[in-house]
Amino acid sequence: MNEMLDCLMNKNSSCNPIWFMRQAGRYLPEFRKIRKKNQDFIKLCLNSNLASDITLQPIKRYDLDAAIIFSDILIVPYALGQKVTFVKNKGPMLSEFNMKKFLKSKPDIFLKKLKPIYKSIKKTRKKLEKNKTLISFVGAPWTLIYYMIDIKKRPEHLKKFSKYDLERIINKLTQFLCLHINQQFKNGADVVQIFDSWAGIISKKDLNRFCFEPNKKIVQFCRKKQIPTICFPKGIGKNYKKFIKKVKPDGINIDYKVNPIWAKNNLKNVCIQGGLDPKILINSNQKKIIKETMRYMKIFKNIPYIFNLGHGILPNTKPSTIEKIVKQIRSI
Ligand code: CP3
Repeated sequence: MNEMLDCLMNKNSSCNPIWFMRQAGRYLPEFRKIRKKNQDFIKLCLNSNLASDITLQPIKRYDLDAAIIFSDILIVPYALGQKVTFVKNKGPMLSEFNMKKFLKSKPDIFLKKLKPIYKSIKKTRKKLEKNKTLISFVGAPWTLIYYMIDIKKRPEHLKKFSKYDLERIINKLTQFLCLHINQQFKNGADVVQIFDSWAGIISKKDLNRFCFEPNKKIVQFCRKKQIPTICFPKGIGKNYKKFIKKVKPDGINIDYKVNPIWAKNNLKNVCIQGGLDPKILINSNQKKIIKETMRYMKIFKNIPYIFNLGHGILPNTKPSTIEKIVKQIRSI
């Protein structure tokens, strides 16, 4: 029995599935070793053999229930024609967004560029034990736009686009994201997680158009294809409740600012995932880390809950800390 799917889809609350966002990444020495030899990050994501090996690195170390395919949400803007580079300590850098070129993007070219990702999913699914889940993912349209038009460095840039243009970009992105999800699923992914990491900066009046609606369209597409979904609209606070009502995903990842007791009482008919603050894993002693882990496990004891964090593992986290958390949960 695949425990994570049983929890997510059948809402079985008696199992305790575990995985971590960013479980494959810079905090692992074996990842850093590969990364050092592969300076071009996008190229690394598109190296099916290495991407599959990296995906399985945390599975070899810890007793986890799921692997998440090694890729990046920015692989989609890349496949839609933008250059994407990662400069050390500076985060992602994308070449200038070209609206005309973007709107002309064709599905066949897009899917051809992403073919190595599907190949790495296929490879990984073959190597992964049957009872473990393979998670695929995408960035939600708003979060992709955040990087595509560089809202961080140029917040004024957003104002250059009319609401109408933004909606056209969102709709086009939604179509391509559904294609990407479908291909990932067809090649062996069991679940898709939709990361809306920057939903928290959307103003209240725009939340419906820029966050709820596009997430809902993607979830509805997935439901039609029987693809299980987990949404992560990070930073929207009490609006998580509205999100669940409107979007109706199978699972919802809460961020570290969401009070878990509030979540338990307000987020219904959904499998809850995550929540624990990743900063605790580096700033606290082992006793506090175990105490916080157990706080989440106890609060969500009688409802379907997938253990995870409230955001990705930070680069300076010790692998031994992850191991201790996993062992603690397994001992329940
Ligand atoms: O282990 C996994 O979770 C799978 C792989 C994965 C990566 N990125 C690899 C990665 C996943 C699921 C992502 C998702 C992702 N990427 C998100 C959503 C989750 C979140 O953190 O909010 C976002 C916003 C991105 C965009 C992105 N990619 C940023 C902002 C950065 C640079 C800063 C950072 O957090 O690392 C990346 C680079 C990136 N993606 C790395 C990895 C392992 C580090 C690349 C390096 O080695 O330099």
